[in-house]
Amino acid sequence: MQNPPIITVENACKTFTGDRGEVQALDGFDMAVREGQFVSIVGPSGCGKSTLLWAMAALWPLTEGRITVNGREVLEPRREIGMVFQTSNMLPWRNLLQNIRFPFEIMREDPERYRDRIDELIEITALKGFERHYPGELSGGMQQRASIVRALAYDPRVLLMDEPFGALDAFTRDEMNLMLLNIWEQSRKTIVFVTHQIPEAVYLSDRVYVMTPRPGRNSKIYDIDLPRPRPLSVTAEPHFFEIVAEIKQTIFQDVQNDAAPA
Ligand SMILES: Nc1ncnc2c1ncn2[C@@H]1O[C@H](COP(=O)(O)OP(=O)(O)OP(=O)(O)O)[C@@H](O)[C@H]1O
Ligand SMILES: [Mg+2]
Repeated sequence: MQNPPIITVENACKTFTGDRGEVQALDGFDMAVREGQFVSIVGPSGCGKSTLLWAMAALWPLTEGRITVNGREVLEPRREIGMVFQTSNMLPWRNLLQNIRFPFEIMREDPERYRDRIDELIEITALKGFERHYPGELSGGMQQRASIVRALAYDPRVLLMDEPFGALDAFTRDEMNLMLLNIWEQSRKTIVFVTHQIPEAVYLSDRVYVMTPRPGRNSKIYDIDLPRPRPLSVTAEPHFFEIVAEIKQTIFQDVQNDAAPA
């Protein structure tokens, strides 16, 4: 018998109410993720992907539905749930190491206790030697790597990543994907990854959830059967292209259906 999923999303609904009226961002989205799985969520811009991830990190509540991590409903931020945002959110007046240590200060914990772990992560992410550099002295890719170190320093069981490589060029992105797979293979974290890039989702994931145009609902789920470990050369294989094309077609069809008159 398989273990129960470490993450469950049941009937996730979210409606934002503001000065400009109501926006329904999510409508009954379901998801189940097993421990150690790498799962991506793809869908057209504005469909509700970030809304879902923010709810999974308890950065805002759902209007309806329920999210659990490790058997407990997510009602407030938990240290076992790490989050990496689209922008690295480095504080410009703190150097790289001080930025990585910042969450520990907020939680009133001594970062020295995590020193070995932070050093190891700095090594894996090729940031060694840049610990005293300020964000303004680092490239976008380096800042993004530092934000991954910051999220992993706490050793969360679950890592939520919202388009973490969105602002990077294609080469840096490939490099970051390899690094992320390397970290994931070593640490066996459970990762939920949001991206616009379908090839990126296919390359990284065990499973890809396609979300419909807003309000985000479940469209299709793809289990990616590409063997692991996956060298970058996998992305040049015909089967890889087939999967990417199929997912693109699903999203295209969903967008067409959404635009069709009722
Ligand atoms: N704080 C908010 N207040 C009001 N509406 C919001 C808020 N955050 C998001 N929305 C709306 O919810 C919908 C979903 O937004 P969300 O950011 O989740 O989309 P997304 O799928 O992450 O898009 P993208 O791929 O462009 O990042 C959008 O229509 C957006 O305008
Ligand atoms: Mg988003």
